[in-house]
Amino acid sequence: MSAARNGLAGESTGLPRHIAVIMDGNGRWAKKRGLPRTAGHSAGADSFRRLARHCQKLGIEYLTVYAFSTENWKRPREEVDGIMALLEKYLRQALRDMEKEKIRIRILGDLAPFTPELQKLCRECMERSAVYTGAQVNICLNYGGRDEIVRAAKKWAADGCPALDEERFGGYMWGGDIPDPDLLIRPGGEMRISNFLLWQIAYAELYFSDVLWPDFDEAELDRAIEAFRHRQRRYGDVE
Ligand code: IPE
Ligand code: IPE
Ligand code: MG
Repeated sequence: MSAARNGLAGESTGLPRHIAVIMDGNGRWAKKRGLPRTAGHSAGADSFRRLARHCQKLGIEYLTVYAFSTENWKRPREEVDGIMALLEKYLRQALRDMEKEKIRIRILGDLAPFTPELQKLCRECMERSAVYTGAQVNICLNYGGRDEIVRAAKKWAADGCPALDEERFGGYMWGGDIPDPDLLIRPGGEMRISNFLLWQIAYAELYFSDVLWPDFDEAELDRAIEAFRHRQRRYGDVE
């Protein structure tokens, strides 16, 4: 979890070791085309699949995407149901294509409110893809940064309050063993974090783009990585 460790990896290859993405702008993409919001989410899922492959090809070790927040339950029932149906479809497809894709899948977030079927698909994807070590995608579902920190504190208390430092506390997060993101990308034009990875992005480089997520293609990702390569990460130190 140490930022310094990530920094060293980034410096040796020039590439971020871990990219996190707030997949935003699906609804506006659909609206612009006179389509229902769910059509935007479907196009967004395609974008995710394409970029996961692109990251794998580039040698990015971790891609973490924000797919459904703890706040997204506020949306109309129809939209939430549509997103859940797309998730099921994606996970079934991932199970089918697993041997070809060779990407490890992890789901981060509280799955308890999801249907038993969706929970089972999540577990199956995680278990069956655990053998792949080259590239990993982490899908944040029913995920909230504050919720994660509160749960971490509860897990620590349930463990009997052992001696704590930043690294150990980070270990109580959903993906406690995953190194922190080096680059956080938010497409869709908003300049906010919306409760994503609050603990882990302490020293991430931020990249905002006006391009809506379904239009965020390989060239856009390359642009974000190129911008990252020109950043100087100091972690509070001098040059
Ligand atoms: C992000 O796209 C996907 C989810 C939050 C599930 P939005 O649905 O937020 O798209 P906009 O921001 O309304 O365009
Ligand atoms: C963040 O996008 C959540 C996901 C992309 C899953 P939102 O669209 O929910 O964020 P706000 O409401 O614009 O902050
Ligand atoms: Mg949005």
